[in-house]
Amino acid sequence: MLISVLLGLATLMVYVVIKYYRFVGKYPKGPTPLPLVGNYHQFDNQQQYKSWKSFGNTQPPIYTIFAPLPFVQITDYSLLKEAFVDQGEAFVGRPENKVVQELFSVAPKAGVLASNGENWREQRRTAISILRDFGMGKNLMEELVRSSVADYIAHLDDIEDKGAVELRWPIQVMVSNIINGVLFGYRHKYDDCAPLMDYVTKHNKMMEQVMTSRLLLLAAIFPLIRTWPLIGWHSFGRIAAMAREINGYIVDNVDRSLSTYSIDDEPSCFVQAYKQRMPPNAALDHTNLLATCADFFVAGQETSTVTLRWAMLFFAKYQEKQDRLRVEIAEVVGSERLPTMADQVKMPYARACVLEVQRRANILQRNVARVTSRDVEIRGYTIPKGAWVNGDIHYLMSNDPLFEKPEEFRPERYLAEDGKALKKDLVDRTVPFSLGKRACAGEAIARVELFIGLTATVQHFRLLPAAGFEIDLEPRAHSFLLPKDQQIRLEKVV
Ligand code: HEM
Repeated sequence: MLISVLLGLATLMVYVVIKYYRFVGKYPKGPTPLPLVGNYHQFDNQQQYKSWKSFGNTQPPIYTIFAPLPFVQITDYSLLKEAFVDQGEAFVGRPENKVVQELFSVAPKAGVLASNGENWREQRRTAISILRDFGMGKNLMEELVRSSVADYIAHLDDIEDKGAVELRWPIQVMVSNIINGVLFGYRHKYDDCAPLMDYVTKHNKMMEQVMTSRLLLLAAIFPLIRTWPLIGWHSFGRIAAMAREINGYIVDNVDRSLSTYSIDDEPSCFVQAYKQRMPPNAALDHTNLLATCADFFVAGQETSTVTLRWAMLFFAKYQEKQDRLRVEIAEVVGSERLPTMADQVKMPYARACVLEVQRRANILQRNVARVTSRDVEIRGYTIPKGAWVNGDIHYLMSNDPLFEKPEEFRPERYLAEDGKALKKDLVDRTVPFSLGKRACAGEAIARVELFIGLTATVQHFRLLPAAGFEIDLEPRAHSFLLPKDQQIRLEKVV
């Protein structure tokens, strides 16, 4: 009897293992996973970029990690272009996993960032069209950025002791004020921005939980766990409660923007323009409005802030590069006005600096996940329908062989022989906004924020290490790769 039971169990195990490896065999080959745990034991969940790097260095350019769910990685630029651009339609999906949907959207499948299909198309098209009406890609939006940057420079001017300044909050307020102004039509004052600071602090706390909680990962794999008493709360419920609390900022601001608005009025912000477009279009409703605002706020705020924080540290560390940038600013812009995007044509070094800041800061540990809508064939690799895909822009920007000594901060790498043109192949491979139809929807705004935010700071101040400190460029892995908190010395230049 016992022998039959053992034999039965052994047969079942062999069957399960064979089935598992058949399932694994459908995906592009990567490091061999173990049944159930996959490659999870080989994966550093907190410092993911380090794991992706070591896998990327030893695996083919398209490979799969089972963490423990299958996640296909693309680490070669031309293959990524073939996937996200040439076969773009097959890669426009986002995961429909319940945990992802409930945590990262105001309502499941609503808004832009996490939605899919027709709703995504409609929300993204509408959002971009409204932003264009408000001047995205044109002078109007640039004026909004310049005005927020002018407030920020004035705020830095007012700081009495410039010997040790923590630039994190001034940059955060400057960037947040841009998206706040676009969405809700008003800006925060530097000495009166508690709701904004509260939003940012709570959001960062929530993301820390998302990055570190193994129970949450379990709930993502087995979504039913969410509904179980106690374990449901600890794995998912408490983090979902944090997300709801944070979204209170968006709900309050949408209410505020609509409280005095009637659809016959000329809209003065994104929320009002969206409201005006609602009546004839059934896809535009209040839930999608909230979700879209939350997406643009969250995606448009921390990304540019973190990038600019890195920029200040790079230039405080490398004084000769800062001097070269300042000379170019002085020659082209002078000291009487803030830089404009039109100045860019005559400022190849400044453009190279922004590219190198984004490449070297490389703030995303991994790209936002995509999901394939059908089986896809790319140069002999087959990615099955429904696979999660990471177009690994972090790996590309820190390992592409065209970036010599990629760990070094060298804006000059982008300059052609004549010192005026930029090297196209390097510019093309600098892909912080990702590629294809689902690439960053705020790229046009971010580019203005980074160019004007950086050049205006260097125009007005010399950035130096605070007395007795060295600039530390080792990143701190959080939801983004953050710079460590550190103060720098500002010396007024103009
Ligand atoms: C340095 C700044 C920024 C970086 C590096 C960045 C990067 C990205 C990346 C990598 C994605 C995912 C693309 C993909 O799935 O392939 C994304 C998506 C998105 N970004 Fe940005 N972003 C930045 C700034 C902004 C700004 C300022 C806004 C809004 C004003 C914004 C709004 C969005 C939205 C709405 C999406 C979702 C697009 C979709 O799913 O269709 N981002 N961003």
